[in-house]
Order: sequence, then C-alpha cells, then structure tokens
Amino acid sequence: MAFLNENYLKLNKNYLFAEIAKRVNTFKTNNPGCDIISLGIGDVTRPLVPEVIKSLHKAVDDMANPDTFKGYSPDAGYPFLIDAIVYNDYKKRGVDISSDEIFLSDGAKSDTANFQELFSADCTIAVTDPVYPVYVDSNVMAGRTGFFNNNKFDKIVYLPCLEENNFVPSLPKTPVDLIYLCLPNNPTGTVLNKNDLKVWVDYAIEHNSIILFDAAYEAFITEDNIPHSIYEIEGAKKCAIEFKSFSKTAGFTGVRCAYTVVPKDVFVYSKNLEKTSLNSLWARRQSTKFNGVSYISQIAALATYSQAGQREIKDVIKYYMNNAKLIRDALIKKNFKVFGGVNSPYIWLKTPNNMDSWDFFDMLLNQIHVVGTPGSGFGPSGAGYFRLTSFASYENTLKAIKRFDNLKI
Ligand code: MLT
Repeated sequence: MAFLNENYLKLNKNYLFAEIAKRVNTFKTNNPGCDIISLGIGDVTRPLVPEVIKSLHKAVDDMANPDTFKGYSPDAGYPFLIDAIVYNDYKKRGVDISSDEIFLSDGAKSDTANFQELFSADCTIAVTDPVYPVYVDSNVMAGRTGFFNNNKFDKIVYLPCLEENNFVPSLPKTPVDLIYLCLPNNPTGTVLNKNDLKVWVDYAIEHNSIILFDAAYEAFITEDNIPHSIYEIEGAKKCAIEFKSFSKTAGFTGVRCAYTVVPKDVFVYSKNLEKTSLNSLWARRQSTKFNGVSYISQIAALATYSQAGQREIKDVIKYYMNNAKLIRDALIKKNFKVFGGVNSPYIWLKTPNNMDSWDFFDMLLNQIHVVGTPGSGFGPSGAGYFRLTSFASYENTLKAIKRFDNLKI
C-alpha cells in the first residue's frame, strides 16, 4: 500500500492563484458574457518583443536542419546564454560572478520551490509576511513546518511587513537558518536600498544563515540606489542565492526561462560540521532532476541582451510601469491607501474600512468585474490588504480604473 506524504495534508486546499481562478470561473459560469478584467495573477499580456520573435524563428529553423538541430541542452544551460547573463546582469554592475555559478531553469517559481531540498528538514525558515506563497508551501511539502494554526504554519518564523514598518521586515528575533527575501517585493512592491539590504547580509554572515533572494522583479526598479542584485552588497557571495527570471523582465511567462546564481562560497554543513558548497549540491540536484531549458527558449532569452532587445524589453516595462502609475494615482484620488507600484508592477492597497481581503475580492468581482488578489492569501499580515497588478493592457487598465467610480463600498 502506498502511503501519502502527510505534509501535503497541511497545505491550504488550493494554491492561491488556483483558488482565484476557480472563483472567477464560477462567476463566469453564473454570469455568461460578463467582461471581466484581471489585475490578479501577475501574468504578462504584451506580446514578445520583435528581437525575441526574430530569434525564435531562427531557433525553429535551426531545429529543422540536421546540421544545427539540438537535443538536450547542457543541464546548466548553453554557454552563449550563461556568458551573456554573466556580462550583462553582473559584470556591467561591477559584480563578479563566474559562469559555473549560473544555472538556467524553466522558472524562478520552480527554483525557489526546489532549492529548499538541499537543506535538512530541521532548518528553520524565516519569511516576510505577506509572502509569495511558493516559499511557504514548498517548505510545508518538505516537512519543514508544523501544522497551520491561527493563519500561520508552526515552526515558520514570520517577519511582519505592515504599514507601521513601511512593509520593511525586522531582523528575526530567534535564530533562523534560511531567510527568504523577495525584492522588489511581491506582493507589497517594497524595495530596500543598499544600506538596508546590507543589514540582512551582515546578519546572515554573523548567524551563519543563508538568504534565498528572489530578484524576479528587479527590472521594474525605477529609483536610484536600489540594488538590482544582492551581490551588489559586500559579503553576499558568501551567504546568498539569487533567483532571476525572464518571465516578467521579457514577457516569458509562456516561453519559460530563468536562472539561479549559486556562488561557490556559500556552504552548508553536515552533522559532523563538514562543509559542502551549495553550488556542487545544486549542480548534482539539477543534473538528476532537470533536463535543461529548451534551445529555443535559450536563444530567445539571448535576444533580450542585444542592443535592440534591451531597448524593446525596457519599453515594455515602461508600458507596465505607466499602468502602475495610472492605478496608483486613480486609487489615491479615490482615497484608497496605496503602496508599491513605483519600483514594482504590484500595487498594494488597504481595503476600505478594514474589509476582509476575500470580501473585497468578491465585491470587486461582483460589482465591477475586476479581479485582484486578496492580501490574506499571502499570509496573516496581508489581511485587510489587496494586490492589483499593472500587467493588463493599457486599455483594460484604464477601463478597470474607471469602473472603480461605480464601486459602492
Ligand atoms: C504572482 O502573481 O504573484 C506571480 O504571477 C506568481 C508567479 O510568478 O508565479
């Protein structure tokens, strides 16, 4: 008889965005023909940029020709893309990362979920609260948490991010082994400047903790002195893993390409205190469980680093950030308390009259047919908040904002 991994029973019944999709589908069935605008899941809507499309066509032609056809990619990725990443994303920022510290993957979601496998089940994790649910759920599945009690998983150290602390987490008060940081933050849109991020790097070095740093939204940073990579902070190469993605940066949610940086100087310890580099463990893990990103996706990702590619993807990011500004400005005018949306595609707002996040979700869906994401879905400190994304088209963003005029609170 096969017994199940009982940790799965500790999870909420549905993944947050699956729950939203389910509720929206029920609404659609009951209200056929209703024009629903989604500002919910952070999925891009602009087509791939021309440089990427051109390279995709070329890659398909390569696959049609016996001389240029490609089978399996190297596990960590083709050197042509890894070298472009090392040069454009790190060397140009004065950061020294070597090519064997980069591992391509099909997405930052999978990597941030999978990376915890390298750590013992006894490791204590800290997450900011609210938080991207993948970090929590993947640790629940691995048995690193207790049960869900009073809106929290036992054994997880939650670091509340609220209006009172400008959504900036305080350092953990009890020792933790792993710290998940996502900056610019999903869902709150918060960023840390270099001094503030240094506090975390210093803490991690002092306490022998490891920072799992999700930088999937770095391309949306508009202000100066905000680090685009944790490795801009001195010491980070000794204590931090960084996750990056082409999904939001270049509209690749349907193409799939991301990468994780695992510096060779980040170590984990066995019970007898022998140290092992996480780099070699991740390489071992990936070569067993992952067969590489498709050649076609890697060629497409490479195109984003050409001069024209950079210009084109930056224009798309500006387009989304213009939507973010429209949403922010309109909601502020309507007396909502609004945060984020300046260095991030996410706008985080306080629900009116402290309304429950899911009640506000239902209100928007029923009254004005706009979908957002309830803050409480991201953790207990998200209760009474709500997230909107700027990833809809300009036209739909305008339409959605206009519909707020008809909202009866
Ligand atoms: C979000 O809406 O938070 C993101 O789309 C989720 C993701 O990138 O997996």
